[in-house]
Amino acid sequence: MDASNKIPTPASGLPIAFHGTVIHSQGLNNLEILENCFVLIGKDGKIEILQANVESDQINPVISENGYAPDVFPVKHLKRGQFICPGFVDTHNHAPQWAQRGVGRGISLLDWLNKVTFAHEAKFKDPEYARSMYASCVAGFLQQGITTASYYGSHHGHATRILADVCFEKGQRALVGKCNMNRNAPDWYRDASVSDSLHETRELIDHIENLDPHNHLVKPILTPRFAISCEPELLDGIGAIAREHPDLPIQTHFNEAKDEIEFTKQLFPEFDTEADLYERYGLLNDRSILAHSIFLHEEEIRRIQKLGCGIAHCPIANTTMQEYMIAPIREYLRRGIKVGLGTDSGGGYSSSILEAMKQAFIVSNAQQMLTKGQDPALSLYEGFFLATLGGAQVCGLDDRIGNFAVGKEFDALEIHSINLDLPGVMSPVEEEDSTQVIFEKFLMTGDDRNIVRVYVRGRSVKV
Ligand code: GUN
Ligand code: FE
Repeated sequence: MDASNKIPTPASGLPIAFHGTVIHSQGLNNLEILENCFVLIGKDGKIEILQANVESDQINPVISENGYAPDVFPVKHLKRGQFICPGFVDTHNHAPQWAQRGVGRGISLLDWLNKVTFAHEAKFKDPEYARSMYASCVAGFLQQGITTASYYGSHHGHATRILADVCFEKGQRALVGKCNMNRNAPDWYRDASVSDSLHETRELIDHIENLDPHNHLVKPILTPRFAISCEPELLDGIGAIAREHPDLPIQTHFNEAKDEIEFTKQLFPEFDTEADLYERYGLLNDRSILAHSIFLHEEEIRRIQKLGCGIAHCPIANTTMQEYMIAPIREYLRRGIKVGLGTDSGGGYSSSILEAMKQAFIVSNAQQMLTKGQDPALSLYEGFFLATLGGAQVCGLDDRIGNFAVGKEFDALEIHSINLDLPGVMSPVEEEDSTQVIFEKFLMTGDDRNIVRVYVRGRSVKV
C-alpha cells in the first residue's frame, strides 16, 4: 500500500470544531471539566484551540482571531448530557485471542495457554482468516472507544503484518508486535528457530516503516511473549534489536502468575527475579510495557521505577483467570511508576476499557482492605486517568495523545448520555444532575452505545 496519499487526517480536509462540555485529565488527580468549551482541530488532526467559557455568540470571533474564516467549516454543538473526552488506551491485549474471549476459565495460566490459547492463535497461519478476524477485532475495539491499542499478534509474521495493515486502514492508533516464542509451545505453534523469529520481527519493522513511515498511527513493538517461551539466544536477539532501534517500545508478560514465576526460575536459575532476567537481556527500560506485574519483590519495584518501565494493569484477567488477583497499583502510583489499563483480551473476557476501569476500582477496594487502609482505593478520576493519559504514558505517546492539550492529536470520544431513546442501559440523566454526576454515570453504567463517535487524529473511525 502506498502510504503517502493515505495520511490519516480529518476526512473532509477541513478543520473540525466542537462547542460544549469537554472532560480530560491533566494528571492522576487532576480531572478538568471545561464547560462551553470551543475545540478546533486543524486539517492535520492536531488540536489548535481549546478554550473554555466561550458563549455561542463568541465562537465566530474566536475563529477569526485564530486566522480562520467563520462558516467555512461546521461547528458541532454538544447539548446538555453530551461531552467529548479522550479516547481510551488499551495498553495490553492479544488480537489473535479475539474469538476466544470468554472461554477457558478456571485453569492455571500455563494450562490455559496449552489447552485453549495456542490452538486459537495457530489459526492465524491462514492469512484470509487473519484478515477477517483482525478486521472484526480492530472494528470491535474502535466501537468501544479504544483509539490506541498495544497488540500482541500471533507468532506468524504474515498475519501480524496484516494486523498492522488493518489498524492503519481502519484508522486505529496501534503498537503492533509479532509474538516471539520458540519453545514451550507445540511444534505446530511456535517459531521454527531463533533466526526465523528475529527475521520475522525485522520484517514487521520494515513493513510498518513502509506502511506508515512517520508512525502517524502504527508503530512496531518488540513482543517476547514471556521468558518461558523464549530461549536465551532469542531474548538476546530481541535485546539487540531494541538497542539498534532506541525508539521501539517493548512488551512482555511480567510476574503474572505463581506457576509462571516458578517455571521461569527453573528455566533461568541464574536470575533471582524476573526484573533481573529481562534487564540482563536489554528488555527493561523506559519503553517497556510490563503486563500484569502482580508479584514483584521490593527490589524489582525499585528497579522498574529507576528504569522508567510502564505497567499494563489488567484487572479483569488478574481476577478471572485462576489464582492471581491484585496488582499493587497504589504502590506503583505512589512511586511515580507509569500505569495504564489493559483489557488483556482474551485472557480478560472483556475488551472494554470501561469494564477494565470498573474492575480496577473493585480490586483497589479489596487492596485497601487487605492493606488496612495503607493503599487507598482508586478514585473515579484516577481510574479515568489510567484509561487515558496514564495509558498514553505507558505507550510512550503522551506527547501526542491522552488529553486535549493544544498541539496534541485529536483522539476523542463523543459521548451521548441524555437521550432516553438512545438504546442502552446507562443511568438516565436527570434535571438536577451536574456534569460530574453525568460523567460518573457514564463511567460506571455507560457502554459502547453511549460512545456515538470515535476520532483518531481528527478522523471519525467508528462505523
Ligand atoms: N503469558 C504468556 N502468554 C500469555 C497470554 O496470552 N495471556 C496472558 N494473560 N498471559 C500470558
Ligand atoms: Fe496477556
